[in-house]
Amino acid sequence: SIAYLNGEYLPLEDARISPLDRGFLFGDGIYEVVPSYGGKLVGFGPHIDRMREGLALVEIDLPWDHDQWRQVCEQLMIKNGNGNLGIYLHVSRGADTKRFHAYPEGVAPTVFAFAFDIAPAPVADKSKAKAYKVSTTEDLRWRRCHIKSTALLGNVMHYQQGHAAGNNETILYNSQGEVTEASACNVFMVKNGEVITPPLDHQLLPGITRLILLDVLQKYTQIPVHERTITLEELNSADEVWITSSSKEIAPVTSIDGKPVGNGDIGDVWLAAQTVFEKHRF
Ligand code: PDD
Repeated sequence: SIAYLNGEYLPLEDARISPLDRGFLFGDGIYEVVPSYGGKLVGFGPHIDRMREGLALVEIDLPWDHDQWRQVCEQLMIKNGNGNLGIYLHVSRGADTKRFHAYPEGVAPTVFAFAFDIAPAPVADKSKAKAYKVSTTEDLRWRRCHIKSTALLGNVMHYQQGHAAGNNETILYNSQGEVTEASACNVFMVKNGEVITPPLDHQLLPGITRLILLDVLQKYTQIPVHERTITLEELNSADEVWITSSSKEIAPVTSIDGKPVGNGDIGDVWLAAQTVFEKHRF
């Protein structure tokens, strides 16, 4: 596939960075994954807003505007065949001349992007949807989970816990037993016809799929929607649970730690949510 690195388009396998790149040595960088279907990006504006905010929070100085990012995304879609593509965007603090923790001065950020295949856009059809099974565990990452940092070892270790148990994801809760997010997704539950998701704070990433889903539910359906704390106990007695992310959209969860969610089938509120998401995703 064709990638982008510091102003150049080139085959991914030919892209080279320095071993002194701070993204490599420290995980010192910010990233995004923007989904696209047939050459059309989903949530491009909010994805770029979030990346610019993340770069500002960690003081990486890259003055790119939306048009510059759009051009890279569009070139990558075209050069990679305009299929179902996740566009990965990555900015690290760049390659220093030594390994030293403090932010270096006068070092240009490394800008890298590539496209990878994702599943076709999900459709509102219970018989075609993939049912997800998840584990749960206490969140042992850091307290800056609102920053989309490339330092993902904490997330990777939590994802692996679910994977090793034969599940597709790991839902995380804090030391108070409050559900925050999953290792690479946001979490929603349905109880008595209401859709509930944890409020945004430093314990979770402000997901763009979460943002779009909340927006379309409020604009185009009568389904009550709440951003409020969810306890693990509530999650375990929910009628439906969903996990959301750019690469899977709204994924229905039918099993938590080996126990069925609701009656164990994909639910009707998921169907309604997926129907409206699909209509308004672009
Ligand atoms: N994961 N929470 C975490 C920890 C995530 O890593 C992600 C995204 C989300 C969902 O955010 P969004 O809807 O904007 O994709 C929530 C990406 C896709 C990844 O790391 O591959």
